[in-house]
Amino acid sequence: MTDDAPADRPESVSKIDTSVPHSARIWNYWLGGTDNYEVDRVAGDRYRETFPGIVDIARASRAFLARSVRHLAAGAGIRQYLDVGTGLPTADNTHQIAQRVAPQSRVVYVDNDPLVLMHAHALLTSTPEGVTDYLQGDLYEPEDILARAGRTLDLSRPVGLVLSGILGHVADYEESRALVRRLMAGLPPGSHLSLNEGADIDETYNRAQRAYNESGALPYHLRTPEQIAGYFEGLEPVEPGVVPVQRWRPDVAPAAGRRHDLGQIGGVARKP
Ligand SMILES: C[S@@+](CC[C@H](N)C(=O)[O-])C[C@H]1O[C@@H](n2cnc3c(N)ncnc32)[C@H](O)[C@@H]1O
Repeated sequence: MTDDAPADRPESVSKIDTSVPHSARIWNYWLGGTDNYEVDRVAGDRYRETFPGIVDIARASRAFLARSVRHLAAGAGIRQYLDVGTGLPTADNTHQIAQRVAPQSRVVYVDNDPLVLMHAHALLTSTPEGVTDYLQGDLYEPEDILARAGRTLDLSRPVGLVLSGILGHVADYEESRALVRRLMAGLPPGSHLSLNEGADIDETYNRAQRAYNESGALPYHLRTPEQIAGYFEGLEPVEPGVVPVQRWRPDVAPAAGRRHDLGQIGGVARKP
């Protein structure tokens, strides 16, 4: 762990706010995890009552993340990853997927939630040949993230930047785009972006999200499909482009007649 205090330091515990729901913890709840509090479960259940599809969305987003990192490792030869807005550890985290393909892969995780810091030890189980590191950092400070990640990653060599479900937390769309640009600007040609975000395509989803945003949690903003595609501007898209995540190189072809798009859109692209 680079210059952050140990994951279990007492101050981290005292910083955990259990009075309002938190993004990483609700996401963990929807994914079937146990690293969440009553306040998160209440907010998560209320959301699900309005829009039951959210659980499938959370799972499809993680499955996309896994397939995209596998592609970066096996298809694009990427051996270094920067995963910003990591969330709480789940079954298949970026380093496990990448190191399964290439054990020497190096992975830096970044999140600003103190509970993620507390659980970071579960993310730091690298293969002996590779490295994993965790930084307590803020998306709004991309140059700081890059400078600190550069102690573990060689930023003169291609990096896979993973942004999974974090950009919606930036209220202003143009600002969120600028943050992606600033992160990619610090990475060399041949680097890739794997990104997926909640999409503004379903009125029930919108309604559940509006109610959530009024709960005291850090709001999350659903973006139009065009806005999500806009995050990839200036990059070379990897087939099949920016699409509903379950259509991005699925492991199993969707059953006939099941073409319902879930409302999570993502893609992978290469920096020329
Ligand atoms: C919806 S969760 C997604 C977690 C994970 N990437 C995934 O796909 O399963 C969003 C994550 O972004 C983190 N986050 C939100 N705003 C952030 C910021 N400004 N800087 C760093 N992390 C942030 C939250 O703490 C949370 O872990």
